[in-house]
Amino acid sequence: MTRGLFITIEGPEGAGKTTQARLLYEHLRSRYPVVYTREPGGTAIGERIRALLLDVSHTGMSPLTEMLLFAASRAQFVAEVVGPALREGRLLLSERYVDASIAYQGFGRGLDVGQVRRVNEGATRGVMPDLTILLDIDPALGLQRARQTAGKEGRPGHGDRLEQESLSFHVRVRAGFLAIAHEEPDRIRVVDGSRAQGVVHDEVVRLVEGLLGARGWRGSDSS
Ligand code: TMP
Repeated sequence: MTRGLFITIEGPEGAGKTTQARLLYEHLRSRYPVVYTREPGGTAIGERIRALLLDVSHTGMSPLTEMLLFAASRAQFVAEVVGPALREGRLLLSERYVDASIAYQGFGRGLDVGQVRRVNEGATRGVMPDLTILLDIDPALGLQRARQTAGKEGRPGHGDRLEQESLSFHVRVRAGFLAIAHEEPDRIRVVDGSRAQGVVHDEVVRLVEGLLGARGWRGSDSS
C-alpha cells in the first residue's frame, strides 16, 4: 500500500492542540499534500456520535458506552478519512486519535487499558500514527485556558461533558498521556504546551521536519 504520513496532536484540555495544529498546517501546506482534520473528521456518522458523547445532559453514560462510542466514531473516521488519505500518499494531520481513548477512558475513567487498546485496534484496523505530538500541560492551568476559550466561543461556563469532569479526572488523564509517551518514546514526543505559542510551534516544527527528513519527504518548492 502506498503510504502517506500520519501525525496526531494530543494532550489534556487547554494544552493548545487546535492552535498548534493550525500553525503546523499553515507551515506545511505549501510544500506537502496535507490533510488537516480532527476526530470525528467531518464524517456525518462521526459527528452524530460526537454530539451524543459531548452532550452535557448525558450524565448517566457508562464508561464502557463512552469508550465504545469513541471507538465507533474512530472506525468511521479511519474508513472515510484516514485510510483514503494514507493510500493517496498524503500527510494526514489529526487532532486526537487512539491515545485520547487510552488516556481519557482508560486512565481517566478507569477502564482496563488493555481492553481500550484491543477495541481500538479493531476500530482502526491497526493504523497508528507515525508521530504523535503530546502537548503537555498542568490540568489546573489547562482547564482554566479551555474554559476561557469556551467563553470566547459563546459556550461560557463549563465546556462539554468531558471538560466538566473534576480536576482529579483530568490529572489522571494527563498522567495517562505521560505514561503512554513513556512506553512509546519514539512515536510520542512530549512538548511543554504551557510556553508561549511561538516557542511551542518552533519545537513542533522541529519534530515534524525531523520525521519528514527521516522518511525522505522533501516537499515541493513553495515558490
Ligand atoms: P476535543 O478536545 O478534541 O474537542 O475532544 C472533545 C472531548 O472528548 C475532550 O474532552 C477529549 C474527549 N475525548 C475522549 O474522552 N476520548 C477520545 O477518544 C477522544 C477523541 C476525545
